Amino acid sequence: MMKERLQKLQDEALAALQQAADLNALQDVRVQYLGKKGALTDVMKGMRDLSPEERPAIGQLVNTLKDQIEAVFAERQTLLNQAAIDARLASEKIDVTLPGRGTFAGSKHPVTLVTEEIVDIFSRLGFVVEEGPEIEQDFYNFEALNIPKDHPARDMQDTFYISDDLVLRTHTSPVQIRTMLKNKPPVRVIAPGTVYRRDSDITHSPMFHQIEGFLVDEKVTFGDLKGILTHFLNQFFGKGQDVRFRPSFFPFTEPSAEVDIACVICGGKGCRVCSQTGWLEILGCGMIDPAVFESVEYDAGSCSGFAFGMGLERIAMLKYGVNDLRLFFENDLRFLRQF
Ligand code: DAH
Repeated sequence: MMKERLQKLQDEALAALQQAADLNALQDVRVQYLGKKGALTDVMKGMRDLSPEERPAIGQLVNTLKDQIEAVFAERQTLLNQAAIDARLASEKIDVTLPGRGTFAGSKHPVTLVTEEIVDIFSRLGFVVEEGPEIEQDFYNFEALNIPKDHPARDMQDTFYISDDLVLRTHTSPVQIRTMLKNKPPVRVIAPGTVYRRDSDITHSPMFHQIEGFLVDEKVTFGDLKGILTHFLNQFFGKGQDVRFRPSFFPFTEPSAEVDIACVICGGKGCRVCSQTGWLEILGCGMIDPAVFESVEYDAGSCSGFAFGMGLERIAMLKYGVNDLRLFFENDLRFLRQF
């Protein structure tokens, strides 16, 4: 009877071990037969009820079966372990022949590019970079630049006021005042920066960039101004770039001029970009007004100088053929990656 019971246990245990589909199931089978409350353990506990004659033979059978279960268990365990490793390797396989994703190295913003190029050209002429604050006092932004209290540029629609005395600077010209109060002539300065105006439409952004330049020394003439700006425009837009100076007005320069370049799109024949005139306005300039010298305590009798200012977005648009100002502020990578 005991023999038969063992025979049955052997068949069941071996079949269960073979059928265990994974390591957990296999472990369960082992516990089911060899564990503290396992079927085989139960048999061993029942041995004490056997007669002394029966005991050795049955004992041997039990031991053999125990060894056999352990052996099959170990064999299946190795197999299932390997299967688990194989399955994991298969699921985590990397196809090293797939094309890579590539990395984007980043690039400079077009306004940064033109700023650097302009600064570079003027650096080679001995100009040094100066900067000023974007929140500016009325004195530097207007008063010292000979922009009287009733000047239209002071109108609320143009200027962002922070308080009666503080504005977001509307141009880079206040850097002229700050520099001249700090240094005695000769000075040669190029001053790029962010400026703000209450203006927002397709061609105006409330925040944009300008670059200011000025030079003060003994006996500086309008000829020097023309020579240096013509040189700059030829360096920047290419040799042979046609340039013209038109009389104009700015409160801080006298005489004043606006400079046009032959249209970079049509070459001067007339097109939509230049409104059929063949010319594009590119900057404002002039000889520094004696009233400005007075506000920085320079002696207008012994020195003279010129100044100029231009909008950097406009220059970048002309240089790179960009037709919408808003592209510079949207930070769309599809646009920026082209530079
Ligand atoms: N500040 C002027 C503006 O914002 C530009 C300008 C014109 C600057 C003539 C100058 C200058 O230095 O001489 O429109």
